[in-house]
Amino acid sequence: MDQQTIDESLQGALREVIPDLPTGLWHLAGEGVWGKVLDLHDGTMLKLVHRNGGIGSGDTKLIRETRALDLLNGLRTDMFVVPKLIGQERWSNGWMLGGAYMGPPLAGWLRMEKLPGHCADETMLHGAGASERDRLGESIGAAIATFHEEAAARLGEASGFGDPMLRTLKEAEPRLNGPHDKARLEALRAGWTRAGGKAVPLHGDLNLTNILKGGPRDPLGFIDLAEFGMGAAEYDLHHFEMSGPLRDAVFRGYGAITGAMPDMDLYRMGVAASAATTLAIAGGGGHPREAARRRYWLDESLYQAGID
Ligand SMILES: Nc1ncnc2c1ncn2[C@@H]1O[C@H](COP(=O)(O)OP(=O)(O)O)[C@@H](O)[C@H]1O
Ligand SMILES: [Mg+2]
Repeated sequence: MDQQTIDESLQGALREVIPDLPTGLWHLAGEGVWGKVLDLHDGTMLKLVHRNGGIGSGDTKLIRETRALDLLNGLRTDMFVVPKLIGQERWSNGWMLGGAYMGPPLAGWLRMEKLPGHCADETMLHGAGASERDRLGESIGAAIATFHEEAAARLGEASGFGDPMLRTLKEAEPRLNGPHDKARLEALRAGWTRAGGKAVPLHGDLNLTNILKGGPRDPLGFIDLAEFGMGAAEYDLHHFEMSGPLRDAVFRGYGAITGAMPDMDLYRMGVAASAATTLAIAGGGGHPREAARRRYWLDESLYQAGID
């Protein structure tokens, strides 16, 4: 992949307002609705967070990710590693960078350790054999279960973080109109609360783009902790539902560590909450067939979760 270098005037503007940034070449490592991530090529990454993006607020995401990284403090096992937090700042003025910056207003930045590896996304699996895919899935599942245990040991009880499943439902709900959708999301919330899974520290957004894979013996990198929180462990598995056999491998790896398969009722509810968020973000936009698919997926996943 061609790397896009960061414009010298933007670098200069960033160096003026953020202390201790290196000179030299920087590259764009990622760009999403919530901002840019810059590789500073000194073993650190700078994440610029927009005030507004998808649903929720950039300020809240920045605060949450900072707190999570701070508490986890570079947590590392044989199976996973979380980047160390190096610095962060929230800006009251979204235009701190002046004319060198062309993007939307910024909530602030955070700087963290650069983890080795590449996103473990689907393209990595193209051409990979079934055994390679299974190994990746199993290592992801084992890493998730280990993360829950180790993060719980590090955080203790008094974390003050909310439940990411309930948070995502709350954010999705106002965007889904129609009394039927609202009633079903209400039933989903009630079902989740009633099921009362044991709360563990959750990454909150473990899709493949937030998992970095290096060499075969390296721990997986867990990045992007903006949706961190406390809730039922099954919620961290929801992103793999659409990944077919990879999902089964993730479950196997997870079960090998916990000694039990995930609770499928809780898992289905997590999948449905995620489907609601996807529909809330993308709505009926884009190609009509894609919009219909998102709608169908919400109906189907709610049905699977026992909600009509
Ligand atoms: N600590 C890190 N180490 C290595 N790469 C990173 C790190 N943080 C982010 N990246 C890269 O930047 C991309 C976007 O970062 P992420 O935190 O996931 O932000 P977004 O909110 O845009 O999803 C990631 O997919 C990854 O390629
Ligand atoms: Mg991400």
